[in-house]
Amino acid sequence: MKKMEKTTRFARNLLAVAAGLTVAGLAQAGEVEVLHWWTSGGEAKAASALKATLQAKGHSWKDFAVAGGGGDSAMTVLKSRVVSGNAPAAAQIKGPSLQEWAAEGVLANIDDVAKAEKWDSVLPPVVANVMKYKGNYIAAPVNVHRVNWLWANPEVFKKAGAKVPTTWDEFFVSAEALKKAGIIPVAHGGQPWQDFTTFESVALGVGGTDFYKKALVQLDQATLKSATMDKVLETFRKVKGYTDKNAPGRDWNLATAMVIKGEAGMQLMGDWAKGEFIAAGKVPGKDFTCAAAPGTAKAFTFNVDSFAMFKLKNEANVKAQKDLAAAIMSTDFQEVFNLNKGSIPVRLNMDLAKFDDCAKLSSKDFVDTAKSASLVPSVAHGMAVPSAAAGAIQDAVSQFWNSDKMSVADAKAKIASAAMTK
Ligand code: GAL
Repeated sequence: MKKMEKTTRFARNLLAVAAGLTVAGLAQAGEVEVLHWWTSGGEAKAASALKATLQAKGHSWKDFAVAGGGGDSAMTVLKSRVVSGNAPAAAQIKGPSLQEWAAEGVLANIDDVAKAEKWDSVLPPVVANVMKYKGNYIAAPVNVHRVNWLWANPEVFKKAGAKVPTTWDEFFVSAEALKKAGIIPVAHGGQPWQDFTTFESVALGVGGTDFYKKALVQLDQATLKSATMDKVLETFRKVKGYTDKNAPGRDWNLATAMVIKGEAGMQLMGDWAKGEFIAAGKVPGKDFTCAAAPGTAKAFTFNVDSFAMFKLKNEANVKAQKDLAAAIMSTDFQEVFNLNKGSIPVRLNMDLAKFDDCAKLSSKDFVDTAKSASLVPSVAHGMAVPSAAAGAIQDAVSQFWNSDKMSVADAKAKIASAAMTK
């Protein structure tokens, strides 16, 4: 009898402990489904740093990767998921699109995390404002990518007797020399977002910062129809002449691989390309070089990746989502993620000791260009204008790139009218 009583008490205690554990477990361990398009070598390494950070907090990560550089396919899939009432916890959404999603009422307010982690004081205001909707944080930023870069393979440049260009005139001299040496001068992936990435670097280099802002950010009709736009389009078409015939449809990372292997001399691409060189074991300054796209050394087109947080019902998952948001902005994560991604931390005053010279230059230029008003948002990467206008301009630019018969005047008119898309 005594023994029975003891056992019963023990069993009861055990049950109570187990129940407590379950409740505690449920309250803490949640699942976070994260939509992203980071599937290339360098991107996947960076994404796995995010996964590891979340798992270290005891939560589980449900990967929702939709391949396709630039994220066009990912956005299409996200829309259908949200419409069917099945939003992920977090999704890679950037720039003005964050406001569009928030206006739909589907994003969660994460101000409690932002306050506890002092985001207002560790983020540049230009970034913090984009992460907020009506004054409340709805997204967490991960990095700052610079888009106006030119990546080159120094060995093939040497072989061709060419130098890495700093102006568009020099660019074509080098391209000609590479071509004569039997090397594909420009590695390009013929997808609309990649055409547009090249286009905006040409626009910035040929037209300058004021032109870029007026034409592509303010969408000023007179500037879009100006003579400078002719020069931009002519230069853009000339660049195409130095790409290979297999460019159409090629993924950006395969274009980077051509530079890595020395099949091509250079690539105009944002610094996620550096993530590919690094993932392939290449050393900056030795195996590859980073330089501002011709004529753009004193400007900086920024592209900030961020994760928007969707409203969730399950409490454990909400907790996991908040832990994810806090982790994204932590100094440890910002370091390891950006070392792999090719970008620089978005958090101010971070120690960059472990970063390479490309990242250090990017960081210096980010600060300097902010002071000289030549820090501009990337249109190709969804930082500048609402998605409808950006998409229409992108299509017009790609049509011109792909149809050698379209005149500059026609392209100019098409782009100007695309800019009016609401
Ligand atoms: C950009 C994105 C980068 C990079 C690139 C290629 O839009 O901001 O993080 O991954 O697409 O996929």
